[in-house]
Amino acid sequence: MSLRLLVKAVWAESLRRSCQILRIWAGARSGGGTIVERKLQTKRVLITGGAGFIGCNAARFFSTRNWSVTVLDNLSRQGTDQNLKWLSDGADFEFEKVDIRDRPAIDRVLSQGRYDAVIHLAAQVAVTTSVTDPSTDFGINAMGTFNLLDSVRLHSPEAVFLFASTNKVYGKITGAQSELRGNQYGYTNRPHGISENEPLDFLSPYGCSKGAADQYVLDFARIYGIPAASFRQSCIYGPRQFGVEDQGWVAWFIIASLLGRDITIYGDGKQVRDVLHVDDLVRAYEAAILAPDKIAAQSFNVGGGPDQVLSLLQLVDILEERLGHKIPLKWDDWRPGDQQVYISDIRKLDRALNWKPSIDVNTGIGQLVDWVDSNRAAVGTIGSTLQVQPAQQTDEPSVTAV
Ligand SMILES: NC(=O)c1ccc[n+]([C@@H]2O[C@H](COP(=O)([O-])OP(=O)(O)OC[C@H]3O[C@@H](n4cnc5c(N)ncnc54)[C@H](O)[C@@H]3O)[C@@H](O)[C@H]2O)c1
Repeated sequence: MSLRLLVKAVWAESLRRSCQILRIWAGARSGGGTIVERKLQTKRVLITGGAGFIGCNAARFFSTRNWSVTVLDNLSRQGTDQNLKWLSDGADFEFEKVDIRDRPAIDRVLSQGRYDAVIHLAAQVAVTTSVTDPSTDFGINAMGTFNLLDSVRLHSPEAVFLFASTNKVYGKITGAQSELRGNQYGYTNRPHGISENEPLDFLSPYGCSKGAADQYVLDFARIYGIPAASFRQSCIYGPRQFGVEDQGWVAWFIIASLLGRDITIYGDGKQVRDVLHVDDLVRAYEAAILAPDKIAAQSFNVGGGPDQVLSLLQLVDILEERLGHKIPLKWDDWRPGDQQVYISDIRKLDRALNWKPSIDVNTGIGQLVDWVDSNRAAVGTIGSTLQVQPAQQTDEPSVTAV
């Protein structure tokens, strides 16, 4: 490194530290403990995809816990600008508009001082889009995750690295049998749900790209000793979720029913998912970051588990009762790869971190209905499907909702 570059790097680091101390000082003045206590407590977390649904909830949470938060996002998903505005109204954070496919930009962010934790959420999130544009899907989910992991290895190897993986890495789960019980499907031979022992079976381009990333995360933990883990998330829901038909079905059903848009049910509507409120997920992230020894180099299925399940038609029933009117439905065939049931076995995470979901489905759905209701103008600007559009920072296409 030349002398000029070295001076520049030292100057940037001291500026960052001064800002951090000022922030701590400001927080301490508003009653958050002594300056020294606050400084000792302040840890740094990088949240990729931090302007998205889970990301902005996580950023707000860690900011209120006195973490120094850096949000990294390319703002390719519609609604991210509104999430950022919401965040800046109530949280203290730094923002980096970066595409995770841009390796030099990732290195720049990670070399600005060490992070204590990295929560990697940035992704192409829809199976449907991955089928129409597998190249972009691979670039973001597989290569983008590799960029980040490798940069963490070089610049912040002690950071606890949490990867938002997906239950889609298990594919069809041919060993699990299901049957119709009344109005919903259930497993006959998986009473606790799907565990981490289920064989991996990447069934779609999205499954492949997330699955490849999931395995890289575990391998970087084994080979390089990075305290990294894959959280194989099931269906997450909650406020600030700009759900569309292809992704975020709980939020989408609520948005569509409040705004009078068409809801199409593919299949018989009796298919079941376990659902987890975003606040419970973020609590699990915190517990994992605080106990790296218990999670490093492991995968965990994270969802509502057998106690927090919902069928499509059950959600429609809940909404009709809340809204006081019938919701018109359209019907279509099962889509390829649709599962009749997916329920996570969450006992491994419970054993490791003493974590359980705390928000029941009815309470959580009620909260999301209230959020959509009081944000009709914002959610009204979002379309009903995800489509591929030109990326904002690279020449490659990226995903945005239209
Ligand atoms: N929401 C769920 O139910 C669920 C379930 C399983 C896994 N996940 C995973 O959790 C993570 C977060 O999901 P979410 O529901 O908050 O989705 P989201 O779409 O709201 O958030 C993803 C964020 O990543 C950003 N992004 C996309 N491409 C990027 C790129 N190339 N560079 C930088 N930023 C980019 C988007 O702008 C967006 O803000 C994703 O990795 C997703 O695969 C979510």
